[in-house]
Amino acid sequence: MSANLETNTGSRLDLIRATVAAIARHGLSSLTSAKIATAAGYTAASINFHFGSKEALLLATLREVSEEFAAEIASGLADAGEDPLRGLLAIVDASLSRRLSDAQKVAVWYVFLAESNARKDYQSICGERDESFCKTVTALCRRVIEARGVAGWPDADAVSLGLIGIIDQQWQGILFDGDSFDREAARRQCRAYICSVFPWLADRVVADRPVAPPVQPAAHAEPGLRYTLPGWIYHNEEFHELEKERLFMSAWQIVCHVSELANTGDYVAFEFFGQRGFVIRDSGGTLRAFHNVCSHRAHAVVGGERGNCPKFLTCSYHGWTYHHDGRNRSVSAPEAFAKFDRSKFGLKPIELEVFVGMVFVRFRVGEGSVAERMEPHRQELAHYRIDEMVPLDDLWVHDVAIDWKNLVENYVEDYHFPMGHAGLSALMEPQYDREVFPKGTMRLSHRMREKPLKSWSAERYAAFLPTMEHLPEDMRRRWTYLGLFPNVFFDIYPEWLDFFQLVPLGPGRTRIRARSYGFADDRREMKAARYLCTRLNARVQAEDEVLTHSVQQGLSSGAYTRGILSDKEIVLAGFQDWIRARLPVT
Ligand code: FES
Ligand SMILES: [Fe+2]
Repeated sequence: MSANLETNTGSRLDLIRATVAAIARHGLSSLTSAKIATAAGYTAASINFHFGSKEALLLATLREVSEEFAAEIASGLADAGEDPLRGLLAIVDASLSRRLSDAQKVAVWYVFLAESNARKDYQSICGERDESFCKTVTALCRRVIEARGVAGWPDADAVSLGLIGIIDQQWQGILFDGDSFDREAARRQCRAYICSVFPWLADRVVADRPVAPPVQPAAHAEPGLRYTLPGWIYHNEEFHELEKERLFMSAWQIVCHVSELANTGDYVAFEFFGQRGFVIRDSGGTLRAFHNVCSHRAHAVVGGERGNCPKFLTCSYHGWTYHHDGRNRSVSAPEAFAKFDRSKFGLKPIELEVFVGMVFVRFRVGEGSVAERMEPHRQELAHYRIDEMVPLDDLWVHDVAIDWKNLVENYVEDYHFPMGHAGLSALMEPQYDREVFPKGTMRLSHRMREKPLKSWSAERYAAFLPTMEHLPEDMRRRWTYLGLFPNVFFDIYPEWLDFFQLVPLGPGRTRIRARSYGFADDRREMKAARYLCTRLNARVQAEDEVLTHSVQQGLSSGAYTRGILSDKEIVLAGFQDWIRARLPVT
């Protein structure tokens, strides 16, 4: 195995990880430095800076993946100790672990393997990995067979080739099925094969605890029932880290509305999952997003929640300046440095997308664009003319000691409305549209009652709400809630809307970000309707906070394993399935 000449940490590792994601997404032939850099949130120049060339980065990526594979197998073998059967089982578990064989890494292997014929360096790394793996498995098989004492039967090479073939086959399954691949079934098949070739050890194979994430079986599993996720994941540190890594770093996050960035140099800053960034409008009118991290010594380049830097950005630590497009503009006291290339010290870009006037960012490439994922809702949203709206209040930021999943689950079900929200139930009809869409979005929608039930706010809201002429008839007295999983939601009323974003701060801790937008409209009845809508929803928010606090306590008490879901919680079930498809939990 070729040893990495340089240890991959920090930016090198970021670029390698981004390369893995970019190869999985684009393949090798259409892969450009720009695609990798965007995925990493770096400039294309940083590839040359850290690796010398894109080719060298590709090679370093293959080496990194290969060395990770070898290290993981070695660690599994070390844990297994001297027992060759446990060694074989450990190899199966390690090969099928998400760490070694997530869909992206598997794609990287196959892509490089396919190129190996033409490339000696790729061939040597892939070949060494295969050869070493084969030797290890064969040696273990031989020891199992020798320990039995029947010389030469079964044949160690044949058994080992069979096992490697099955594992390869499973990897192809991962390549095609991605996150929905059933790793437990794959493990069972490998173990069944080992039982069939070493039948005298079958009892031991069955008794050996599979290395799998803790799964708490439903205490009362009944066919046809839908079960919730288990309670432990709402307050578990490791699971939170996994969520951050697998769900949130590549999840689209809403920052603001384009109207908040109307002028050249206007910026809005944000911090999500420990990543500090900002969106700015450059002098050509383009919106750009960058990490809010100076390339000198990492100080924040812009301060506060929002502001304007009309000409350029100045870091307030040592005075380095940057153009609006992220290029380094000047370095204070340049004579104090050895000669260096300033172009390599710009701001690192973040992927940005504007959808219906809303500005989204994400730190890593992931599933489709916002527009692709929100496609089922595009027509409905178009009626509201969101891109023409302006903010109607300040950004609302509120930290709660409640897990983000608990808040989402409360948000996406109406089963609790009659008990939990008397005001809302007085205003709205009890029938709901409830739907989850394949690309991880959801829609809940309900109409206002012809005549509200008794409630001060509901009755007055229904009376004051002006007819919104630009909306189709059916949407003029309807409230709709749209969600982009995992954590961005829109509350859409006829007269305005808000976004509602649940940013995890830790296991059981969440920051809620929300802001309202609408058309500038000073009519008395519009002001009254918006006031009453706020009043109704402030109460709903307060009621939900009490409910979800209590649920959080229950989930953390150890007295709850998992529950069951009704048809009215179908969107909640869809959200949980979305999580199941991405994280090791059932
Ligand atoms: S950290 Fe920004 S100029 Fe030094
Ligand atoms: Fe609620």
